[in-house]
Amino acid sequence: MQKPTPIDEEIKLDTKHYIVSETDAKGKITYANDYFMEISGYNKEELIGQPHSIIRHPDMPKIVFKLLWETLKQGKNINTVVKNLAKDGRYYWIFTEFEIRRDKESNKIIGYHASRKTISKHVVEIIADLYKKLLEIEKNEGVEQSEEYLILFLKEKGDDVNFTNIMEEIHRFY
Ligand SMILES: Cc1cc2nc3c(=O)[nH]c(=O)nc-3n(C[C@H](O)[C@H](O)[C@H](O)COP(=O)(O)O)c2cc1C
Repeated sequence: MQKPTPIDEEIKLDTKHYIVSETDAKGKITYANDYFMEISGYNKEELIGQPHSIIRHPDMPKIVFKLLWETLKQGKNINTVVKNLAKDGRYYWIFTEFEIRRDKESNKIIGYHASRKTISKHVVEIIADLYKKLLEIEKNEGVEQSEEYLILFLKEKGDDVNFTNIMEEIHRFY
């Protein structure tokens, strides 16, 4: 499917609704709730079986997804701020809680669950600045350098700060 061309128009989200989806272990969509479909503009047939990157926005730095997958593969849940691309080219920012789903008997990872809600304009501003910088470094110097920048950025915030808890902190305090 052809990727939509991004336009500079934000979709307003309803604070009462969660945008929910589930994937298999490889990140292919197995479930999307009604609100996911309403906001993304894709219907069930267009979503189920597709890689979740169908709504990836080009403003998102690669390092964020690298850290997301590394964390999930280590068996840890993670929360991340994400900018998504709707079918009509508009965008929406959300705070996403990623959760691992395991087979009850074998305990093997069988998929992932993502639940998303709105974030304040202030949080978006902080994160958008950080992601912009990361993307700029990625384009000019590569993903490794953007990772270096992110590590330094986190270190400046404190010794015990990592990508997962900075997202929670930013979300909680701003
Ligand atoms: C449960 C789950 C939900 C996801 N939700 C999103 C999402 O809303 N937006 C997004 O861009 N990527 C999402 N991803 C990450 C994608 O799988 C993918 O890594 C990302 O879009 C980057 O695409 P790429 O790895 O092809 O570069 C999700 C992954 C999982 C496991």
